[in-house]
Amino acid sequence: MSGHINGRHIALAGMMGSGKSTVGPLVASRLGCRFVDLDQAVEAEAGHPIPRLFADEGEAGFRRREVATLRRLLSLAEPTVVALGGGTVETEEARELLTGDRVWVVWLDAPPAVLAERVRSGPERPLLASDPVRRLEDLWERRRPLYRQVHHLRLAADLLSPEALAAAIVEAYQQGGVPPVPRQAIVAAPRVSSLVVRRTQSFRWRDWIDLQAAPGLVVADPAVAEYAQGVVEELREQGAQAGWYPLAIGEAEKSPETLVQLWHAFVEHRLTRDSWVIAVGGGVLTDTVGFAAATYLRGLAWAAVPTTVLAQVDAAIGGKVAVNLPEGKNLVGAFHLPALVVLDRRPLATLPPHEWRAGLGEVVKSALIDGGWLWERLCRGVPPLGSEAPEWEEILYQTAAVKVRVVNQDPFERHQRMYLNFGHTLAHALEQLSGYGHLSHGEAVGLGSLAALYLSERVLGLDPAVRTTVAEWLKTWGAPTRLPRLSLAALEPVLMRDKKARGFGLQWILLQAVGRPQVVRGVSWTLVEEMLQALS
Ligand SMILES: NC(=O)c1ccc[n+]([C@@H]2O[C@H](COP(=O)([O-])OP(=O)(O)OC[C@H]3O[C@@H](n4cnc5c(N)ncnc54)[C@H](O)[C@@H]3O)[C@@H](O)[C@H]2O)c1
Ligand SMILES: [Zn+2]
Repeated sequence: MSGHINGRHIALAGMMGSGKSTVGPLVASRLGCRFVDLDQAVEAEAGHPIPRLFADEGEAGFRRREVATLRRLLSLAEPTVVALGGGTVETEEARELLTGDRVWVVWLDAPPAVLAERVRSGPERPLLASDPVRRLEDLWERRRPLYRQVHHLRLAADLLSPEALAAAIVEAYQQGGVPPVPRQAIVAAPRVSSLVVRRTQSFRWRDWIDLQAAPGLVVADPAVAEYAQGVVEELREQGAQAGWYPLAIGEAEKSPETLVQLWHAFVEHRLTRDSWVIAVGGGVLTDTVGFAAATYLRGLAWAAVPTTVLAQVDAAIGGKVAVNLPEGKNLVGAFHLPALVVLDRRPLATLPPHEWRAGLGEVVKSALIDGGWLWERLCRGVPPLGSEAPEWEEILYQTAAVKVRVVNQDPFERHQRMYLNFGHTLAHALEQLSGYGHLSHGEAVGLGSLAALYLSERVLGLDPAVRTTVAEWLKTWGAPTRLPRLSLAALEPVLMRDKKARGFGLQWILLQAVGRPQVVRGVSWTLVEEMLQALS
């Protein structure tokens, strides 16, 4: 699947004072590549400092040199981190270069007041000669639309330390260009998805969230109370006014009533526009708390610490939040991205085996549609269920990264995001026919994947060895590999009721090869019946 941007140059855009020259070298050293400051490169090539170039050749002369140097840097084969000049984006030719597919552009954004403070003592800046704050405000107004036009990822440079900015950039770059981040930092990013970070020794909440801005609230599943209380303590140690709200919740309580309860809790804890909410729990909890955050005060920033396998690799990522109605699942919801999703292996230690299986269907699905690292890793042998196997940490993170990449290319589910429904066409029907709760979602997706692979063999000529391999993984985890006996007569109406069948007739996501999904309509019912026979 496309979407991997590794190999591209990284360009840092933003106003003077936004930290491009500080953050750039940190990014370069983390990625082990070269850093170039565009202003310095222009000076070196011209043999004169910038103020002198402005005096001799005017701004136009300087911009011509700047574009030429940028063009040269972006034509280098080795990926390079380039700190642009603040005004580089003002030249149309430069914007053209920056929207090409050899470069990934990060916009470090900060308000003029903050910038003015930072540049006051900086080196000589020719465009700021008189009344710096006013000048910065004018420049900022003029350039913002231009930065917006070229950027892939926008980060709030005033809210994050240079180290956290660098970490966010590297993480996003390695996930294939994932945007977004903390708080209101996400505005009009052309590609949007949450930032997923692994919990490491050096993780600090305050690098990601402006903890001091206002009181916040941790809403946690009592099943992980001890772990979540650790999160609250940590937040408090880092200077936050962090409230605590335990919420026992199952699918039946994923409801409007629980939303009302949460809104009242937000009032009680005095949350304001600048507050944050952290949801610690499984997918039921993150879906509900995310929707409460989406609606309270027209949208609070939120972060998720998913504590089930399903939530880590799927539910907490992608910004779909919702509650159920008696008439159906997830009927009322919104798109509201968590600013941050923190993956931690520790809470998974208490997760029972059937909850592991409930999430592993998505791991299989992601490996099949992506075909990259994850597929190859699993082909070398799958670890047994349970958090004792250290391999899971990387596998779950990479599964989350597949979703991030897909969502990133298609935030509002128009095209590629449909690939995430691989295995789900039949899975949804199986879940309904066997009654919710009998087969877990992950088990159903495992079976649905085998079904989609069978159809892929017959329709698109997929290698049957893929299905054999996947069936072996499922067996290792104790998940079912044979379909329940089903007649086509019973199955057909349920399949057609699925909301994905709406309008177009039934569609299947099939594979030409591992990593090459495609949407196929018009698979014959005779073939579906043959598949039911073959797999039961
Ligand atoms: N938003 C999305 O894109 C998306 C995607 C997939 C699924 N979902 C939703 O996710 C929900 C299912 O999520 P789920 O599978 O995480 O189920 P869940 O949230 O119900 O959690 C499963 C059970 O595990 C318990 N639990 C959670 N963490 C634990 C831990 N670390 N140790 C022990 N017990 C723990 C919970 O209390 C619960 O009883 C569904 O409502 C589904 O609609 C949403
Ligand atoms: Zn699913």
